This record gives sequence, structure tokens and C-alpha cells, in this order.
Amino acid sequence: MTKPLRLGIAGLGTVGVGVIKIIQNKLSLLKARTGKQILISAVTAKSKTKDRGIDLSSYQWERDPVSLANREDIDVFIELIGGHEGAAKEAVEIAISKGKNVVTANKALLAHHGHELALKAEENGSILRFEAAVAGGIPVIKSLSEGLAGNSINRIMGVMNGTCNYILTRMESSGLSYEEVFSEANELGYLEADPNLDIGGIDAAHKLSILSSIAFGTEINFNGVELDGIDKITINDIHQAADMGFRIKLLGVSQMTSSGLEQRMSPCLVPTRSPLGQLEGGTNMIVIEGDQVGQIVLRGAGAGEGPTASAVVSDIIDIARGISLATFGQPAKTLKKASSSKSQTPAPYYLRMLLHDEPGALAKITKILSQFNVSIDRMRQYGHEDENAPVLIVTHEIKHEDLMTAIQELPNTQVLKAQPLAIRIEAV
Ligand code: HSE
Repeated sequence: MTKPLRLGIAGLGTVGVGVIKIIQNKLSLLKARTGKQILISAVTAKSKTKDRGIDLSSYQWERDPVSLANREDIDVFIELIGGHEGAAKEAVEIAISKGKNVVTANKALLAHHGHELALKAEENGSILRFEAAVAGGIPVIKSLSEGLAGNSINRIMGVMNGTCNYILTRMESSGLSYEEVFSEANELGYLEADPNLDIGGIDAAHKLSILSSIAFGTEINFNGVELDGIDKITINDIHQAADMGFRIKLLGVSQMTSSGLEQRMSPCLVPTRSPLGQLEGGTNMIVIEGDQVGQIVLRGAGAGEGPTASAVVSDIIDIARGISLATFGQPAKTLKKASSSKSQTPAPYYLRMLLHDEPGALAKITKILSQFNVSIDRMRQYGHEDENAPVLIVTHEIKHEDLMTAIQELPNTQVLKAQPLAIRIEAV
């Protein structure tokens, strides 16, 4: 008789509970699809007594993740704890060292230690899978590493943090300020325990760095992601972008250039009519451009019990089916070091400034811009706020570093009331 696949689940939060529900409710479907019985041997979480609305009585309770990873009666260690250090890392390392397979939803762990974990897993004959780590229920890891494996990838773009997309689209639909919508998102429980992971773009950058590794055959380089969050975006920016036919998204872009791997996670203006521009609420979207397939758009729930558990279970099913792929699409030891490149690809920028309303103020600004080859495409001056004049400029295509140098010079004009804000306009 075929041996069952025995799981040990560490972490019984939203995702862990979702995984257990699928395994309990879809036993026969999973058996039909894998030819194996999938059973849970043991679980562990912070609280043994908390009511999670599921029956855990037939599983062994293990005292901590490391002990669970060490158990002889599990074939797959499912890590749903989170965090890139501590128990999650230690337990995954132990599971791999024991030759067990590992499924994780932990993007922070992979972004920081994915390469070394993949090397160890591949040395030890363990399978390390992480479909749930990027964009929740969207099967983007499988799409990149399997469905699109015959393509050279030109570019990956995406909205990979649902909370930021919720905040930005809710500001636009409600007219509320960033601070008001942030509080609303907090009350709804949308924010990570450390909200800066969401609004600072870190969570989304973790995900982008994982996708880059598979797409470009490079070692994960999370520190190479140019990172900027959404906390400086005002409701006026959102309205003014909309007036010009754009929406503001926290957008990840990754592409290989002649000077290295460019990875950016930052607020960008995208055309309202593009698929990315139309993305509402907490949904995620990943756009992949391959040399053979052209453009693929994947859209769906990036978080939540069902969608994330769906991704975790798809990895468990692959392991039950005996599918063993290189962790990041090719053997980890063959991945190249990614030489990270600062954004070289020129783009137009939206530039928001608040000037003293006095004769010659604008002339002083445009003089500096011209010195650094920043050419103005469109310009608007909005209704005055007291003695201040809000001025918006859309530039022609320019290199990011040239614009930043110009922006550093602008305060010398003595006509700025606040630090200018520049947002890239991305061709999508
Ligand atoms: N905080 C994340 C998001 C959850 O908002 O998308 C999934 O990583």
C-alpha cells in the first residue's frame, strides 16, 4: 500500500487553520489527485487552548517548532510562523538537515535566507516549496518556474501588497487622508504586526526579490531592491494623478539590464486604463513579460485564509505527487550573484512641489531643473494654499539619479515650502 504523506504544521494562525480545513474537508479529493493519503501527524502554535474553530484532537501537540521539525513521524514540515529569524528559521533549518521536505509561506525568511536554505535543501535531497510566500493565492511561483520555463523573462511588475493597494484605492474612493485610511485599515486588521512591513514596501520587496531570483536565475538579493513606501502620498497626489489619467500604486518592477538587476518597490503612477491601474482594494496583480509568451497578467487574492491556504496545499500536493523541482527554478548552486543596479531605465516623473507664492519662484525652480536636463512635459499650478503655491510638473523621460541631483539642489532656491516629492510614471 502507498505510504501516507505525514505533515507537521507549525503556526495555527489564519493560514494554518485554512490549511487544516482543506486537509480535513477534502481528504478524498487530495487522495484522488495525489494517490496518497495526506495526514497531519502533529501541530504546534503559541497557544494550545485557544479556540480556532477546528478540531485538533486527533493530532499530536508539539511544544515548539524545533521539536516538531525533529519528529520522526513527519515527512513535510509546514512553516506558517513568519519572521526571518528565530523559531521559523531554526525549525526550517533543522527540518532540512533531517532531510525532510519543507513548505513555507514565509517571504521574509526566503528574502533574507532563501539562497542558503535552497543550497542546503538541494544538498540534502529535501524539497523546499513556497507558493504562498508571494501574492497569496495567485500561483505565480508555479507560473514562473514551470509554465513559463521556456521563456527568457524581460520584466516582472506587480502590486504585491494588498494592504497598500487597499489604502491607496480607498483614499481615492473616499477622499479621506492617508492617516484616516491607515487607521481604518488598522481597525480592519489589514496591517501586519509591524505596519512598516506593509506601508514601507518591505513585505512587497521580499516578494519581488523572490520572483527576481526565479525569473533571472540569480541569487535572491533583497538588499538590492530600491525601496520606498506609500506614507508620503497625499490625497491631493491621488486626485491630481487621476486628473492626468493615472493612478498611484505601490509597484514592484524587476528587470535585467546591461548594468545589472534593477529591482524597485516604490509608489508609481500607472495609466488608469491599464490592468494595474484598474486594480481595486486588497487584490494583488503580477504582470510577467516573457520573450515567447508576451505579457501574462495574474490577478487574485494576495492574502486571507482560503487563498493563502490554497497555495500552501498546492505545494503539499506537489510533494505528495513526487514532484521535485529546483527551489528557485534551477539548482541553487548555479544561480548567479545578482549585481544590483540603481534604476537606470529612464522614465517620466511626477514632481510635486509647494512654493512660496512670490515673483520669480517658478523661474528659479525651472532654472535648476534645466541645469540637470530635466525637461518639463506638463505643468500645473493649483489653487493657492495661503501664501503657498502647489505646483505639479510631469517631466519627459529622465534618469532617476539626474532627477535626484536636481531635487537636492532645489532647496538652494529658497522658494520651497516643503521637500518636493517625485513619483515615477511607469510604462505598463
Ligand atoms: N500584508 C500582506 C498584504 C499580507 O497586505 O498583502 C500578505 O503578505
